[in-house]
This record gives sequence, structure tokens and C-alpha cells, in this order.
Amino acid sequence: MPRINSPAELEGFRKDIISKRDPNKRSITLCSGTACHASQSEKVASAIEQELEKQGLKADVDFRRTGCHGFCEKGPIVVIYPEEICYLQVKPEDIPEITSLTLKEKKVVDRLLYVDPTTGEKATYESEIPFYKNQERLVFGNNRKIDPKSIEDYLAVDGYQALAKALFKMKPEQVIGEVKAAHLRGRGGAGFPAGIKWEAARNAPGEPKYVVVNCDEGDPGAYMDRSIMEGNPFCVLEGFTIGAYAIGSHEGYIYVRQEYPLAVENVMNAIKVAEEYGLMGKNILGSGFDFNIKVHRGAGAFVCGEETSLLRSLEGKPGEPRARPPFPATRGLWDKPTNINNVETWANIPLLINKGAASFASIGTEKSKGTKIFSLVGKVNNTGLVEVPMGVPLRDIVYKVGGGIPRGKKYKAVQTGGPSGGCIPEQHLDIKVDFDELSKVGTIMGSGGMIVMDEDTCMIDVARYFLNFLGDESCGKCVPCREGIRQMHKILSRITKGKGREGDIEILEALGEAARDASLCALGKSAPNPVLSTIRYFRDEYEAHIREKRCPAFVCKDLIAYHIDPEKCQACMTCLRKCPAQAIAGGKKQIHVIDQEKCTKCGTCFEVCPDKFRAVRRLSGVPVPPPIPEEARMIVRKSKQK
Ligand SMILES: Cc1cc2nc3c(=O)[nH]c(=O)nc-3n(C[C@H](O)[C@H](O)[C@H](O)COP(=O)(O)O)c2cc1C
Ligand code: FES
Repeated sequence: MPRINSPAELEGFRKDIISKRDPNKRSITLCSGTACHASQSEKVASAIEQELEKQGLKADVDFRRTGCHGFCEKGPIVVIYPEEICYLQVKPEDIPEITSLTLKEKKVVDRLLYVDPTTGEKATYESEIPFYKNQERLVFGNNRKIDPKSIEDYLAVDGYQALAKALFKMKPEQVIGEVKAAHLRGRGGAGFPAGIKWEAARNAPGEPKYVVVNCDEGDPGAYMDRSIMEGNPFCVLEGFTIGAYAIGSHEGYIYVRQEYPLAVENVMNAIKVAEEYGLMGKNILGSGFDFNIKVHRGAGAFVCGEETSLLRSLEGKPGEPRARPPFPATRGLWDKPTNINNVETWANIPLLINKGAASFASIGTEKSKGTKIFSLVGKVNNTGLVEVPMGVPLRDIVYKVGGGIPRGKKYKAVQTGGPSGGCIPEQHLDIKVDFDELSKVGTIMGSGGMIVMDEDTCMIDVARYFLNFLGDESCGKCVPCREGIRQMHKILSRITKGKGREGDIEILEALGEAARDASLCALGKSAPNPVLSTIRYFRDEYEAHIREKRCPAFVCKDLIAYHIDPEKCQACMTCLRKCPAQAIAGGKKQIHVIDQEKCTKCGTCFEVCPDKFRAVRRLSGVPVPPPIPEEARMIVRKSKQK
């Protein structure tokens, strides 16, 4: 491939690609993101290749492997263009039918369509599926259209237009001015305005200047950054190069965790290809601007996502944070001015430059502009990656996009912001999700984790779980974080074991405030969030655990028991057969009894007892009734039979 040496050549090349692509030509795309890959999408890909050959469609139909579409729980996902017919959970054995019916005869394979779990209605096209219909996928949308390994695909969706515009029509200061005017805030956690940070790095004395992509993404359950990097690496590179030009940097690092092998593979490929095309390296697009990138693989410590730790880790030192100021903008990598942004922040840049600041800023709320990608997981019908404009009500994300809570259960809370975020209870379900509104209710945007919890969730157990994670991940350098988290975790564990004491809540609050005020980095500063927000909204649950030794959600095993109501048991043997601990005694005509010594409180008996009997009860805060004597079990049964 020849180098592209000017914007005119880029435009010519792009037009050439588009003119060779017939918009009416059928194409079949298959998601090959990590989640779909885990659901055997590679086998589906082989089946597609074989079937196109077998049915003589190879020349008439394009086949493309794409990045993540977002609706990962329904993968592997196949979309057929130009109609955008969407098939979910496709298996290799479905491919002959898809080929002969849809690709050849333009007929739909009904059984592979999305079915709304509440209405039972089917959706043929991707745009009709409620999960997609209620999103605005400005940054993530191209993932489903392009092959992440193909620069031609990226160019065909207006790729590298923004870079050409920035390099040839804008001075670096103008680019910074545009990013400032758009009010783009960093998507990695703190929501700091990107333009202000860029300006600080540009104006800081010292050479060379460095730029960094933060793709550490340590939040459990979050995978927005991975999916962008895997599915649209050229977009990140384009934004990154524009940023480097604006800041005056010629050397960039992409810090990506080692556990993201596909992201590493795709971004390394993208760098190589972009260099070949003259879109990276020396004299980019003939502009005279040079920019080189190295990929650094992180070893997977959560604290290495924190910018000062990340930079130390890049230098080959232990990934421990340091106090700020000085901020990386003035003293960063090897003590030189450095600008570090999150993957999603960089991926917003081409869009922002193409659309212009005013158009970008027309989406979102007064102080949070643009869209945000969330990882919606937990007790919600549609899990996956969701991109919505800033300011969308939380209720819409959970109910319209997420499809509500499964099995008719009640909403209890949403945890936002990853492990050090807070929980949002039902009374705040209508908040408009942006940086500032989330912080008003005691939580954070973080990098976009959203875990939905239903009525069966114990909030003390949730706080304990996150504190356990944060305690493990604390680097241990500063006392308030290291000891504060450990002590809070100890008290929470005690409470969930029924050993909570009067005054524990107050100690937790004091410890949380101390860690928040005195920790060195934001890991320790934000670690109390799960504790403080659950105390704020679910204090009654803490009191029930401490005073009544009762877990209202029936989760804390030391505080609950299962009991079979002899009046309701019909000796159907269902629970007895399913109990994994063999803790249930009884027989076909004998009322069942749980041996409390053997019971592991797994809840299987409660789950499997038929609805028409509902004989298994969960108890908490009350004594377990003594088992009825052996003789009485038969007698009751016999009298029922008469
Ligand atoms: C414990 C901890 C972990 C973090 N992990 C990440 C991460 O995985 N990715 C990320 O972009 N930012 C992470 N951050 C935020 C970074 O320190 C930094 O603010 C961010 O990379 C700046 O980019 P942005 O302005 O584009 O958000 C983390 C912060 C803390 C305190
Ligand atoms: S990986 Fe396929 S939809 Fe996410």
C-alpha cells in the first residue's frame, strides 16, 4: 500500500474505497469481541466462510468480523446488511439456514430474532431491539460496522478526517480551544476537563512531552475501554494523534492490561498499518508532524490505573501512586510534562473535531457533554455495553435499555463507578446521570461501571465485597488507605457474621471519613464510598444486622436459616433430591425436614420448592422451630391422604 502524503490523497483514497463498495451489496457481519469469542464465534465464522463457498455466494456477499456490539449476553451476534437484520445467539448449525434463507431469499429466520421478555414481541432489525433503540451510540456505534483490523473499513466511516482537519486546518492551540469549548470531560474517573489538561501539558516547560492512553481498566465487570480498543483501535489512534499534535508531543504510550490480549493484538496491528499508510510515525499525511507510539502491557494491578502509579509502572518501577501536585501535566513520565487520558476520552476526539465543539456540546447536560458508555450488569434483563447521552435518567438506563429487573423482582440499588463507587437507591432512580448529579447522591461516574441490584441483595454484604477487593488492591503505601480499608472490612465482616456491635456504624463513618480525607490517592479517598453510601441509604439494614441479628435480604449465611413448614410440605421430594449437601431428610410419604447442622444455606430448597406449595421458608432474626418428631411426619402425611 502506498503512503498517503496529503489530505487530498487521503480523500481520493477514501472515495476510491467507498466507490468500490456497493451500498446495496449484501454483507454479513459477526461480532468477534471477547464475549462473543467466548461463545464460540470463531466456529460460527468458519461456518459462514464454508457456507458462502458451498452455496456459491462468496463473490456476492461480504463477510466481516467486527468488534463488540454491546449486547454481549446475546452473543454471538450476526447482522445482515443493508437491512440490518439481527440474529442473536447464533450457532454454527444456524448458518446454512441463514445463508439459504436470508442471504439468498431475503427471508428472516424467525427463531434467531430477539424476543422481548415482557411483551413476547420479536424484533427483526437491530434498531428495533429496545436495548439498542434507547441508546445513542456516537463513539461505540462504528464497532459493529467495521473490521477492527481493516483501515479501509475505518476510512469508509470517515476515519482520519478529523486528523486531516486538525493537522492542516487548525493550529495546535485551536485544537485545544475546540476541546475546551466542547467541555469534554475525562471518561476515566474524575471527569476533569480534557482541554484544560491538554493546555497545561502544552504550556508546561520541559521537553520531550509525552501522551498516554490509559487502558488499564481494572474495575471488575467493566469492559468499555477493552471493547473500544478491540473493536475500533484506529479511532483511539486518531484521537491520540490529534491530542499529541495539540500538546506538542511526539512520543506516546498505550498502557493496556495484559489480560486484554485481543485489545493488544488489534492496537498493535492498527499501529503497524497506520505507519504503513503514513498516518503515524514520521511526517504524518505530509504535514511535517511526527508521532510514534509504544504499547506497554500492564500486569493487572487495579492501582496501576491511577495515573501516577501508571506512569511509575511505565518507567519500570513498582506501580505506587505519589501525591499530586505536581500533576503529570507538569511532572509526569520521567519527570517530563505528560498528558494521560482514558481510552474513551481519546475515542471522543475524532467525533468532537469532525462535528465541532458546538455540535458536540449540544448533547448532554450543562456541565457534562456528549455521551457516556456504561457497562450495565447485575440483576437486569439486558446486560452489556450501553452508550447514552449524559443526563439520561437512571430509570431509563435500567428499565428502557436494560429491560428492568428479571423475574419480577424489586429494584434495590445501582452501584455506579466501579468498586469505589456508591449505591443509588430507588428514591433517586430518576436522577439524570452525569458527573455532578451522581456525586450529589454520594457516588461517582468512575469509568462507567453500573451494577444493578434487586431486593435479594444485602447492602452490607455488597459493601464488604467491594472493600475486600479494594483492600487487596491497595498498594499499602499510605496508612489511611491500607489500615482504613482493612478495619472497615473487618467491621463489615463482623456485622455480616452476626457479631456487629452498637457503635459499629459510627466507627465505620469515622474511618470512612478519615480514609477519604487523608489517603494519598483516589483509591483510598474513594474506597469508603460503598460503605458511606450504603449507611446513608440503607442504615436500617445495618441496624437490623447489628441489633436483631437479622439480614433482611436473607443473604448473610450466619444470620439465616431455611425451614420446611410441616403444614405446607407435600413430600414431593423436589428439594430433597436437589439439596447438594444432602441435608434434607424425608421420603415420598414423609414430610421433609432440614438438618440445620448439615445445611450450607445455599438456598436451593427455597428456589426449587414448587410455587403451589411454597413450603420452604427463609428465616432471619428468629429461632428455627424444632423439627417435628419422626412419627409425626408420617402421621400428618397419612391423615392428608385420607
Ligand atoms: C485506583 C484508581 C484506578 C484507576 N483506574 C483507571 C483506569 O483503569 N482507567 C482510566 O482511564 N483511569 C483510571 N483512573 C483514573 C486515572 O487516575 C486518571 O484520572 C485518568 O486516566 C485520566 O484520564 P481522563 O481524564 O481521560 O479520565 C483510576 C484512578 C484510581 C484512583
Ligand atoms: S462481544 Fe459480541 S456483543 Fe459484545
